[in-house]
Amino acid sequence: MPTASPAGHLAHRRFPDEFLFGAATAAYQIEGAAFEDGRTASIWDHFARQPGAVINGDTGDVACDHYHRYRDDVALMEELGLQAYRFSTSWSRVRPDGGPVNEQGLDFYRRLVDELLEVGIKPWLTLYHWDLPQALEEKGGWTSRETVDRFLEYALSVHDALGDRVETWTTLNEPWCSSFLSYTAGIHAPGRQSVTDGLLSAHHLLLAHGRTVQELRRRDGELELGLTLNLTVAEPADPEDEADRDAARRIDGQFNRWFLDPLFRGEYPQDIALDLHEVDPAALAALEDADQAGDLAAISTPLDALGVNYYHGEYVGGAPPAEEPPAGDAPTDRATSSPFPAHTNLFWHERGLPRTAMGWEVQPAGLTDLLLRVDREYARPAGTALYVTENGAAFDDVVTDGGDGATRVADAERAEFLRAHLGATLEAREAGVDVRGYFYWSLLDNYEWARGYEKRFGIVRVDYDTQERLIKDSGREYRHIIAERAI
Ligand code: FCB
Repeated sequence: MPTASPAGHLAHRRFPDEFLFGAATAAYQIEGAAFEDGRTASIWDHFARQPGAVINGDTGDVACDHYHRYRDDVALMEELGLQAYRFSTSWSRVRPDGGPVNEQGLDFYRRLVDELLEVGIKPWLTLYHWDLPQALEEKGGWTSRETVDRFLEYALSVHDALGDRVETWTTLNEPWCSSFLSYTAGIHAPGRQSVTDGLLSAHHLLLAHGRTVQELRRRDGELELGLTLNLTVAEPADPEDEADRDAARRIDGQFNRWFLDPLFRGEYPQDIALDLHEVDPAALAALEDADQAGDLAAISTPLDALGVNYYHGEYVGGAPPAEEPPAGDAPTDRATSSPFPAHTNLFWHERGLPRTAMGWEVQPAGLTDLLLRVDREYARPAGTALYVTENGAAFDDVVTDGGDGATRVADAERAEFLRAHLGATLEAREAGVDVRGYFYWSLLDNYEWARGYEKRFGIVRVDYDTQERLIKDSGREYRHIIAERAI
């Protein structure tokens, strides 16, 4: 008989035994201790201090103070029953300024990984979650080919320290964000606004990824190697309208295929290259110069695992909507640009889906569609497994009286979001997709980049004044799902 879960749903759909349940965080968003034990500035430390770049001028100086509280945080993960923890290492801690290795920085990750292994939680390590050392940005950052060599050195020093204890290695988190959103839109650090810089950065990020995978695989054939992309499902506002269909093609091309095609097919998508040729021939020419013989072969080194980060789809047209357009994505009123290198005649429309506090649509079915498509067109032919490495929602949480003097966050919307997206993942799995795990974003409320501490994604609340942690109702729900291995 199906049993009732705390949310009152019937639990009857089981996850396979090998399916991995986890949660994710990233170094700059939680660690704090920004200038301790030898760490120096990353582009985020620098960017956060630019007037108007981040809401309230918030920085990651203290964040969740995870650097000092990691033991308690691992205990929380254990309490939640997590099987895996996806975190990132900070380049500026391990090789401050992109220079020599700082053993004190590595020691933190040694302690963290030991603590996780001690309680049987699988460490899932991401090498780059957007925090380039500022000193390297000053030498050109990701627009410079030398940063590729520096990244490889950094990656290998993390592997020297943890290669015997960490099996799963993700090179990059969301290169779309660390190139287009950061070097073309200027919304994220380092805040540059240039189409050429975005294209060069994307190329060098992918090259850094490919060369690192090659080298790590040469070192140890047993490692599970991959990267994480933020992917979307683009739909035309009117499927009968050619301009709307073309808008959806261009979003898909510039969000998904610009990264998936070089990684899985060793080529950039021709249709988008043609668009670029029309709208910004100089930027395309700069990319063609930067793309040296052998680069795409390195970029398309086979992957064991592809991480899919899914938050929402895109509902777009070739002309602006008649009614009020949905709110844009710029967190502050500082002037920014479109993240899309070929962004002409691209407009977002409203379709009446519920939205989170980020203004992002809630569309779990999009996750099923996305997993089916990525599996069919890219992962399956390459023998690459899929994992949902991020999915989550920000809501305006309220702390209430939980009775007996205790406090409580009754975040029913987040619990429902989690359940619906786990269901969507399971649906893809049942349809034959090799999706092997799900990581909720995020374990903790944390520093949400240009939105500072204003947006809360955690299944655990963080009180930034006292650093107290409180498992939200969504966290309890997740614990229950993991324990039952069913929804
Ligand atoms: C993703 C990022 C992650 C977090 C979530 C909300 O794009 O990888 O760090 O900010 O969005």
